[in-house]
Amino acid sequence: MATRLEALGGASDVLPADTARWQAVEQTARQVLARYGFQEVRTPILEYAEVFLQSLGETTEVVQKQMYRFQDRGGREIVLRPEGTASAVRCYLEHGLDKTGGLVKWYYLGPMFRAERPQAGRRRQFHQLGVEVFGAASPYQDAEVLALLMHLLSALGLKQAALKINNLGCRNDRPRLIEQLRRSFTGRAAELCEECRARLTTNPLRILDCKRERCRTIAHGSVGSSDWLCEDCRRHVEAATAALTTLKVSYEPDPLLVRGLDYYSRTAFEVAHPGLGAQDALGGGGRYDDLVQQMGGSSPVPAVGFALGLERVLMALDAEQVAPAPVPAPSVFVAALGDAAQRKGMELLQRLREAGLTAAGEYEGRSFKRQMEQASKLGCPYVALLGDDEVANQTVTIRDMRQRAQAPVAWAQCVEELRRLTAGTGKDA
Ligand code: HAM
Repeated sequence: MATRLEALGGASDVLPADTARWQAVEQTARQVLARYGFQEVRTPILEYAEVFLQSLGETTEVVQKQMYRFQDRGGREIVLRPEGTASAVRCYLEHGLDKTGGLVKWYYLGPMFRAERPQAGRRRQFHQLGVEVFGAASPYQDAEVLALLMHLLSALGLKQAALKINNLGCRNDRPRLIEQLRRSFTGRAAELCEECRARLTTNPLRILDCKRERCRTIAHGSVGSSDWLCEDCRRHVEAATAALTTLKVSYEPDPLLVRGLDYYSRTAFEVAHPGLGAQDALGGGGRYDDLVQQMGGSSPVPAVGFALGLERVLMALDAEQVAPAPVPAPSVFVAALGDAAQRKGMELLQRLREAGLTAAGEYEGRSFKRQMEQASKLGCPYVALLGDDEVANQTVTIRDMRQRAQAPVAWAQCVEELRRLTAGTGKDA
């Protein structure tokens, strides 16, 4: 007997009842992104492992534990992309866009893969909507990207998303920050969890990211002063946050926010949502001024971006009880009985669809009563009935489901008539 086939844990099917919701989110997002001048880029799901090994940071969880990595038949090291920024940078460089200069504003929508233990809001295959702006050094660009992020969330109907921002400084500041952290953690190493004790040597910054209460309390005490921050970085993030105030975007400074990927500098941010539980980040991002050069660019290209987790956006919409967009009903149901009528019905369905109407029907030979029930279930305002009489008389009986009234119409005029009638329902405009 065949084994029961099922989807991988943490990789979900989306059934048609839910795809309408996904599409509504994607459509709103595309509209808002277009207003801000973003264009869509589509990069492959499969990339050489190097793309992520050269970008995300050796000590990050994603690189150490979460990449779906394999050798293909040609012995190449391949990864199912765990995120979109490194792919976008690879694509930007591969197509020589760093040579043409100017601002490049991209967005992408699609599946990402991380081998994590599945739980609410944490999937092995999940979807991100990401934006990346290349060639943008100004703090006002950080502010615009953040304003876009919050605009997107409110256009989707979310009211409770909270923005947190931190300043991570630049690569010259990083050794000073790490030194400060090491100094303040070392005396308390015994109180840290085992993983964080190891992080003290590998990457103390990651300790700030630990979710354990004890480590968080110690971490809070260690980020007190910002002496390690250079003047340019301090001014940059101050200008970005002042611009947010001008744009009326609320935010909270969060000195423990370090992000799970290593490529960030200066502005780093996350949006949390109270309806999400333990995995409360709807999205996150920041500035990554060194990444383009780190991945092979001939000169530095300042850049900033973010990604939203779409599964989490949908969970947050549920938590805020934002009603899903109703699935549009077909305008016409064609109910036919008998072989000759079914052939006419098939032709009518085709003609209606070619005329731009959404039309439903079936060929299973079920009674008119059953077909009418199906039409009601779908919410069709009109039914076109075709039986032996209609075939003999070259007519179609059109039934108005709301008025519960019906009348015959000549076959030659029926598409036009249904078009006229359904124009009034607001469907298929
Ligand atoms: P990230 O914080 O790793 O950043 O991921 C962004 C968002 O993707 C998270 O906030 C979360 O909503 C969602 N996400 C991540 N992992 C999972 C998972 N296993 N299951 C469900 N959702 C998940 C990045 O990926 C950066 N590339 C963002 C960025 C763009 N930075 C600059 N530009």
